[in-house]
Formats: sequence, structure tokens, C-alpha cells
Amino acid sequence: MSRVAVYPGSFDPITRGHEDLIRRSLAFADRVIVGVAVNVAKQPLFTLDERIALIRGAVQHSAVEVRAFEGLLVDFVKGAGASMIVRGLRAVSDFEYEFQMALMNRTLAPAVETVFLMPAFDLTYISSSLVREVARFGGDVSALVHPAVQQALQRKFAR
Ligand code: PNS
Repeated sequence: MSRVAVYPGSFDPITRGHEDLIRRSLAFADRVIVGVAVNVAKQPLFTLDERIALIRGAVQHSAVEVRAFEGLLVDFVKGAGASMIVRGLRAVSDFEYEFQMALMNRTLAPAVETVFLMPAFDLTYISSSLVREVARFGGDVSALVHPAVQQALQRKFAR
């Protein structure tokens, strides 16, 4: 039986931290589905199609699939035939939100397990929001994102 994990998020845009977690997930999942949320809380910088294309460009692995999802994450997970949700924990500050979300998802779908992974130490400070902010003001994000993402950010913020 193949073990399928869903790695959900906004990915606005994908960072080296996300890429690291996708790679780590493949240590225990046969397939990883990157679930890109259609409805994100704030107005995203990148459109859904752009976010998906950037993930596909940054992660090229036959066991990794990128799909959009709308509505409840657990419905997407069940529909995809997955049994696990992967989320990253970078710092203690992530914990409260992640804990609430994991327990809510468990209430909604008791058979789905949430697995938390820590990124590589040198990637723990990276977040999409910080990447957007640094790029917006012309800072160098080359160590934080795939070159194609860096170029996409430069195009977005070109003056
Ligand atoms: O990268 P993010 O923004 O932290 O990802 C959050 C995301 C998209 C995984 C979360 O908001 C989500 O699962 N949204 C789908 C709606 C849903 O199922 N909400 C209840 C979860 S408790």
C-alpha cells in the first residue's frame, strides 16, 4: 500500500524551506501531493496559477504532484487518497496555530494524521512573507528561493 502525504499551504511563493520539507517528506511517504490553497487569508502576491507553476519549477520529482484545493483541507486529503498532512514547524511561535489546526483536522477526519517536520537549521528563519518583503524593497533573496522564484519576484516588483 502506498503512503500518500499532502503538504498544504499558500506557497506565496514557495521557499527553500518548503522545498526542504517536501524532500524530507519523501523519506516516509511514497508520494507527496503539494496542496496549494485557492482561498488564502490575505490577497496573495502571486495568482494561484503562478504559485503552482513556481512550485512545479522548483520541485521536479516523479513522486511529487502539485494540485490546487478549495474548501476544507481534510476533504482534499481524503479525496486524494492520502493519510497524512505534513506541516513544518520552524519555531515555537508556529506551534499554537499548528496545534489548533492539527486538532481541528483530527476532529474532522480522525483517520488523517498530521506530521510535523523541522526544516534544515539554516532555513528555519525563512517565510514567504519575509521573502516577499525583502524582495519588495530590492533585497537579495537568492539564498532563500529557487532562481525561477527570484526572477518572478523581480518581475512582480519591477519599477
Ligand atoms: O501556508 P499557510 O497559509 O500556513 O497554509 C494554511 C492552510 C492553507 C494549510 C490552511 O489555512 C488550510 O488548511 N486551509 C483550508 C481550509 C481548512 O481546512 N481550514 C480548517 C483547518 S483547521
